[in-house]
Amino acid sequence: MAIERVRVAAPGDLQPGQMVCVNVEGLPIALANVAGVIYAFGDACRHEGGPLSAGALIRDTVTCPWHGWTYNVRTGKSIVPPVGLRIPTYPVHIEDDAVYVEIDWPEA
Ligand code: FES
Repeated sequence: MAIERVRVAAPGDLQPGQMVCVNVEGLPIALANVAGVIYAFGDACRHEGGPLSAGALIRDTVTCPWHGWTYNVRTGKSIVPPVGLRIPTYPVHIEDDAVYVEIDWPEA
């Protein structure tokens, strides 16, 4: 595994309750601001790939805009339905007035 820290935004780019999708070398990652804390997770819904960052964010739950599946943005765990699925989550670091996401790339 090769861990890479990638600058994806400035903290002010995302207000509480907002989401945005960033593309990191072809990998779509959603950023969500939950009460001032930024979380990063895979933007593709586990159902049919809907863009989660275009959905609704209520507290720490994101609802897919296509068919309504929901996930916890902190853990990546699905809530409704089916419980037990998971979207990837990524560690977030705020440093030097920038938001960094840590990605654990598989070895080529
Ligand atoms: S693609 Fe997300 S619920 Fe269907």
